[in-house]
Amino acid sequence: MRSVPVSDGISWVGAIDWNLRDFHGYETPRGTTYNAYLVVGSDKVALIDTVKAPFVDELLERVSDVVDPSKVDLIVVNHVEPDHNSGLPAVMAAMPNARVVASASGVKGVADYHGGLVVEPVGADEVIDLGGRTLRFLPMPMVHWPDSMFTYCPEVTTLMPNDAFGQHMASAERFADEVGTDLALEELGIYYANILMGLSTAVGKSVAKIAEAGWAPSVIAPSHGVIWRGDALAAAHEAYGRWTSNTLRDKVVVAYGTMWGSTDALARRIADGVASEGVEVSLHDLAVSQIATITHDLLEAKGLLLGSPTLHRAMVFRVAGYLQWLSGLKPAGRLGGAFGSYGWSSGAVEQISERMTALGFTMVGEPYKQKYRPTEDELAAAFEWGREFARAVKGA
Ligand code: FEO
Repeated sequence: MRSVPVSDGISWVGAIDWNLRDFHGYETPRGTTYNAYLVVGSDKVALIDTVKAPFVDELLERVSDVVDPSKVDLIVVNHVEPDHNSGLPAVMAAMPNARVVASASGVKGVADYHGGLVVEPVGADEVIDLGGRTLRFLPMPMVHWPDSMFTYCPEVTTLMPNDAFGQHMASAERFADEVGTDLALEELGIYYANILMGLSTAVGKSVAKIAEAGWAPSVIAPSHGVIWRGDALAAAHEAYGRWTSNTLRDKVVVAYGTMWGSTDALARRIADGVASEGVEVSLHDLAVSQIATITHDLLEAKGLLLGSPTLHRAMVFRVAGYLQWLSGLKPAGRLGGAFGSYGWSSGAVEQISERMTALGFTMVGEPYKQKYRPTEDELAAAFEWGREFARAVKGA
């Protein structure tokens, strides 16, 4: 299998997981890649990151396209999560002469995950000279785990930030401009929304630390998806600026579950009411839309309206599940509303309101409750409720 040149002296030697359809419990319809990079100096060769265990042979084949794996002198572990690190012992066995380094927290993580496997700590004060190519390191806690670290090669201004700037997208092409910048940015947003949104403070600090360290990458080579350079890199930076600062726009996401169609009918009229105020709106039946898509829609939206009928005196499980998904992602600074139908007992909309309040949403007005099927007058009232919410969004 081929390696792919990234910068002068740096090659992509990762693996493509075309068949991955679920990561962390959310949908990945385009698969993913586990990127690893080989940095070749005049004296030494370094491997930045490894891959998920079943893909080690693919990694080693690509390394062999550049150098005999036994000649690799250094393995850098930027992150211990198993998608990058479960293959480490097998890679170490194929590279018996390699020194293995990780952040201080990564050293502990490798030992904990791999039954006491010992690697060395490396920090921001250390420079590893490969001969004409040097490697520098910055610990980046919580981008995406406490152990996360960025590696930089200043001679070719190439940053390898592991999960940061990643996207879950399998492709034969290796660069964002090759797959199309718009597609790469969409996948960047889906990844950010579903993995990093709750860690935005840490991600924002990491971007600032890159500049403070004097690093000025012209290539950002993450450990998932395609590599950023040129105009695509500038666009990715700009998008990260919006997301890390939680810059929101006048947009409302309507998401709901339904049993017999009443909550669905309410949701459509409410969305019409939102749109009538000139506010962007997207509507998702949680039985149909992917969680990843809904959350991506929410990434820059000021408002979320969640609807559910009452079933067994509670919200339906898909709505409860979506609230649970959001509880880890902490979408801060947004307005919320709850709506839904009920029959012989209500309770779902109150529960949604309580849960959204606990998640930090500012709830607007009273929840909208509908007994049995809505009449035309009641649908008109739902339209007005959506309209009022849109006005609040415009005023926020
Ligand atoms: Fe791609 Fe946090 O692992």
